Amino acid sequence: MKNYKIAILAGDGIGPEITAEALKVLKLIEERNDISFELLPALFGACAYFEKGNAFPQETIDICDQADAILKGPIGLSHEESKKIPVDEQPERGALLPMRRRYNTYANYRPVSLPKALAHFSPLKPEVIGEGIDLIMVRELVGGLYFGEKETGINEAGLRYVKETLEYDEKQITQILHHAFKLANKRKKVLHNIHKSNVLKSSVLWNEILEEVAKEYPEVEVINLLVDAAATLLCLKPTQFDVMVMENMFGDILSDQGGGILGSLGLMPSACLGDEKAYYEPSHGSAPDIAGKNIANPYSMIGSVAMMLENSFGMDQEAKNVWAAMQAVFADGYSTADLSKPGSGVNMIGTDAFGDKVVEKLKAMPIA
Ligand code: IPM
Ligand code: MG
Repeated sequence: MKNYKIAILAGDGIGPEITAEALKVLKLIEERNDISFELLPALFGACAYFEKGNAFPQETIDICDQADAILKGPIGLSHEESKKIPVDEQPERGALLPMRRRYNTYANYRPVSLPKALAHFSPLKPEVIGEGIDLIMVRELVGGLYFGEKETGINEAGLRYVKETLEYDEKQITQILHHAFKLANKRKKVLHNIHKSNVLKSSVLWNEILEEVAKEYPEVEVINLLVDAAATLLCLKPTQFDVMVMENMFGDILSDQGGGILGSLGLMPSACLGDEKAYYEPSHGSAPDIAGKNIANPYSMIGSVAMMLENSFGMDQEAKNVWAAMQAVFADGYSTADLSKPGSGVNMIGTDAFGDKVVEKLKAMPIA
């Protein structure tokens, strides 16, 4: 029997409650497959900072180092609470970026998926949604402005200044493009390349390398699109997209827009893949305002489990089942308060009951 070690980093805010639901799903998967999961819980984020003095403490690093995959909840505090932690030690800079760098998880997959059962969550008109939105943003995750050199000081004119560097080398660009082309090849064979080559030299190099890599994937059609135009088209005609690839900062912004067209970032799980290690996390923050109220939808966390099953354990059918189970719960008319507008006619249930219903649906689905 295969045994996988999974580091469980529940995180801050709503993290622990949505992680608890994701673990129910993992447990069922374990029960009904020839597989065992060894769960290794660890502190990560603001909770770790307050308990251990470090948002990514050594114990957690050791656990993540030995894990086959990492399931990570959202981290961070409210704007006000954040001020209690020195800037460089805040969870985003002190834990999340170091984790991405440590495990070189350069390929971030962010599905923006709106099947019919979820269409009522979207602010877009039915005629824009059509038969549904189903795209994946492939975001480069360990380069660009996020990780470039930074400098602050006083310039010659006596003014405070800041300098942040956007740096990529050809290896970084090539490796993320291979991910995107492979994914496009498996799906509809159309790749939207998102860039800003009319202004940024980094995009000029990116596009040059893309043309070289594209030769290895002759079946994939490439459509080049400026990032600002992409933002507009995501609202006007999101159904034209299937796989989109972009650098780190563009991906941060456009993927939140992806959450916007779905109607909530709560519908955005993600996979962060490196060549040796992968971790899985919701794309959203820790929503401290609704933490502990049993109203946060666990979709993004359970979706992250689905992405883990597919990408880390090769369990494609179970991954599909998990997605289908969540959609079936929505299709039955159930939802949580964070996702539902008052008077929308949905049957409002808590975070925990939503998780239970997903498990129930999953039980009825075929294993292979
Ligand atoms: C995301 C988040 C992070 C990012 C933050 C929390 C540092 O917004 O994963 O999109 O900017 O990458
Ligand atoms: Mg973001």
